[in-house]
Formats: sequence, C-alpha cells, structure tokens
Amino acid sequence: MRKTIIAGNWKMYKTVAEAKAFFQRFVELVREAAHCEIVVCPPFPALAAAAEAAAGSNVAIGAQNLYWGKEGAFTGEVSGPMLRAIGCQYAIVGHSERRQYFGETNETVLKRTQAALEYGLTPIVCVGETLAQREAGQTGAVLIEQFRQGIAVLPAGQFARIVLAYEPVWAIGTGRVATPQIAADAHRLIRAEARAVYGEEAAGAIRILYGGSVKPDNVQGLMAQPDIDGALVGGASLDPVSFASIVNF
Ligand code: PGA
Repeated sequence: MRKTIIAGNWKMYKTVAEAKAFFQRFVELVREAAHCEIVVCPPFPALAAAAEAAAGSNVAIGAQNLYWGKEGAFTGEVSGPMLRAIGCQYAIVGHSERRQYFGETNETVLKRTQAALEYGLTPIVCVGETLAQREAGQTGAVLIEQFRQGIAVLPAGQFARIVLAYEPVWAIGTGRVATPQIAADAHRLIRAEARAVYGEEAAGAIRILYGGSVKPDNVQGLMAQPDIDGALVGGASLDPVSFASIVNF
C-alpha cells in the first residue's frame, strides 16, 4: 500500500516569525494524523526555524529546490548536505515555476533529483502541462517527455526512492483545480510510463501527488481516486487551519 503524502509548498511566503507562528498552531492540529506523511516546504531562510518547530512532531520539512553540487563557488545556491544538516527530509524538484521563470529543464531536474537522493533527501519531482499544451492535445506527450528525459534515466533503485507530483500548470494558483477525472487520467498515464520503464512492482509502489488549487473543499474528491496518492498544496498550505483540514481530509 502506498502511504499518502500531503505536502505544503509555501513558495516565497513567510518570514521566520511567520513560520514559527504557523507551526505553533499547525503541529497541534495534525497531531493525531497517522494516515499520511505530512511535509511543509518553507522558503530557505525559514527552514531551520521550521525544522526546529517541527522537531519531535509528525511533520517533516522540505526545501523547495536544491543545487546539485555539494559545495563550491555557486553564488546563491543551496546544497543537499546543507539542507540535511538543518533537518530537511524532502526537496521539491522541477516545480513548474522553476521551469517557467528560472530556466529549469528536464536535464537539470534530473541532476537535482540525483543530488537529493545522493544527500539523503526525498525528492518530490514535479511534472505537468501548460494550458496551451493541454488545449493543443499535447498533455500526454508532454508528460511522457518530462518523465522520460527528467526521471526515467534514474536507475531502478533510485526511482524507488522518489515521489512524483502531477501539477497541471493551468491549475496552479488559479483556483481552477483539475477535476478528479482529469487528474486521475494524468496519474494513470504517468504510472503507465513508470510501468513501461521500471515494471509492475515499481509502478505500483511509486507515489504520485496531485498539485494545483487543492483546497479543503476539493481534496476529498481528488484523494478518492486510486491513482492519486496525495497532494502538493500551495496557497492553501499557508494557513494552519486550512492546511490541517486538507491533511485531515
Ligand atoms: P496552488 O499551488 O495550490 O496554490 O495552486 C500548488 C503548487 O504550485 O504546488
């Protein structure tokens, strides 16, 4: 059985003080939640405070990105070992905002994923089509290309340790959530790709999260789909009550 993951991506929101206030409330609200893994991904400056605030709870901390080197002259970058050292367990990789605004490609997604694994972080690797691609009937082709070029190069042992996230770009931050049916279709397609490359067992074990306008009032329909193994939540993860009610769907 695949254990559900509910992950929050704070994007570029919250100072250290705001992060501390969030955790003070949130940790209490999800204390009884044993049915899923809970992950919160604050921006870099708030990570250490978040890890400290979440220590001893059932909430894990993730970064929103990482560089693939261990250390070196890479101004502005943050490495896997640095993230591990402050208690991070996860890292989002290849989010569409990174692809769209910061030149992320399938090739750099792969490098970051490998680095995360090498340094003991669980990468949450994002794929998803834009609205133009969906309207042009290219959704399947785009997802397959992102999977083949950015993920399927991993050896089977590494693939088994990653988490995938399907995030249709048109649903991110727009309030326009994918219907459970649309999301489930995409998840099935991604799992079929995983099966083609890694076989039945690996495909059955890989967790695929849905992301894009997940809210307390639409999470249940999405989670009812057998191929949807959790959620990657942006806007609705910023408020402790809202995110807790998603966790406790
Ligand atoms: P959203 O963002 O929930 O605000 O749509 C999701 C994401 O980008 O991970």
